[in-house]
Amino acid sequence: MANLGTTYMGVELRNPIVAAASSLTSSLDTIQQLERVGAGAIVINSLFEEEIELERMQFEEDLTAFDNLHPEMIRVFPELEHGGPKEHLLYVKKAKRRAGIPVFASLNAVHRETWIDYAIQLADTGVDGLELNFYATPTEFGVEAATIEAEQVAIVREVAQAVSIPVSVKLSAFYTNPLHVIHRLKEAGAAGFVLFNRFFQPDIDPEREEPAFPLNLSEEGDYGLSLRFTGLLYGRLTGDICCNTGVFTGLDVVKLILAGATCVQVASTLYKNQIVHLGTMVDELDDWMDRKGYGELAEFRGKLSQEQSHDPWAYTRAQYVRLLLRPDPLGG
Ligand SMILES: Cc1cc2nc3c(=O)[nH]c(=O)nc-3n(C[C@H](O)[C@H](O)[C@H](O)COP(=O)(O)O)c2cc1C
Repeated sequence: MANLGTTYMGVELRNPIVAAASSLTSSLDTIQQLERVGAGAIVINSLFEEEIELERMQFEEDLTAFDNLHPEMIRVFPELEHGGPKEHLLYVKKAKRRAGIPVFASLNAVHRETWIDYAIQLADTGVDGLELNFYATPTEFGVEAATIEAEQVAIVREVAQAVSIPVSVKLSAFYTNPLHVIHRLKEAGAAGFVLFNRFFQPDIDPEREEPAFPLNLSEEGDYGLSLRFTGLLYGRLTGDICCNTGVFTGLDVVKLILAGATCVQVASTLYKNQIVHLGTMVDELDDWMDRKGYGELAEFRGKLSQEQSHDPWAYTRAQYVRLLLRPDPLGG
């Protein structure tokens, strides 16, 4: 058996397969299962400030809805699904206390001040690290990309200064130059980069003529963009790269480590193949290392990054030029 241990942002993991933030990490039971089947660490579902704000608005609406009615007609306590940030913070604290593996918290806030404020509160729960989930759908025509990026850099700088645990950033792939953004975030204090987040995408039900909200999971092999930027970054960045999106098998993990990843995060494969599949992925990684004679992840990490690869175009080729010039593009 090979040594699958690795260090992510200074935190020791028994293996590089981390359960990504999702509803699977939003209950103590499933966290326990993830730990039992072999997860290297878990990222708890994000504290979404937007959700808390919506609940607060709903709460205020409930309180004022019957202002003009007779007092006896009013329910004493309006229904409140969650207890705002307090309930989430309590849950994170409990999860950290019970888990025998590293636990990372995740945050998606709205305003600069609240990013800092919630980050401090999450760090105070005792978690091993904090992931900043940076995505908001742009809705304004007048806001330039540079303005949004500068705000994200400022948030990372302030959060990293305000907390004493390592901070990672979970990024969208939709930057014109992700390398530039990552470099700036690194300078601002981020220790890890989760490449890349996969967002919930809206749909429409044509029969009911209504918006639809499907659970759209990723597909096997969707890790391409993550692999590309990991390969480009390895050796040129002092932070850790954690690959995410479309990582389904132990061999996917092998490929991403060969490109330069420190670790990976998984969600969809666990929804599609059950939580126990994480253990299978660990075994597959271990088998491959045994077969290849590797004792440690570091022996092959980055071996096929752009820096170490024999094919300088491997990560920069963006068009099918060569393939199209071949008489048999399908390789038949
Ligand atoms: C049901 C569900 C809930 C999720 N919740 C969160 C979340 O709270 N915070 C977050 O950063 N990402 C969340 N994600 C995104 C995952 O962490 C992950 O980035 C994404 O699913 C891509 O990885 P995958 O291809 O392994 O699924 C969620 C994904 C799913 C499917």
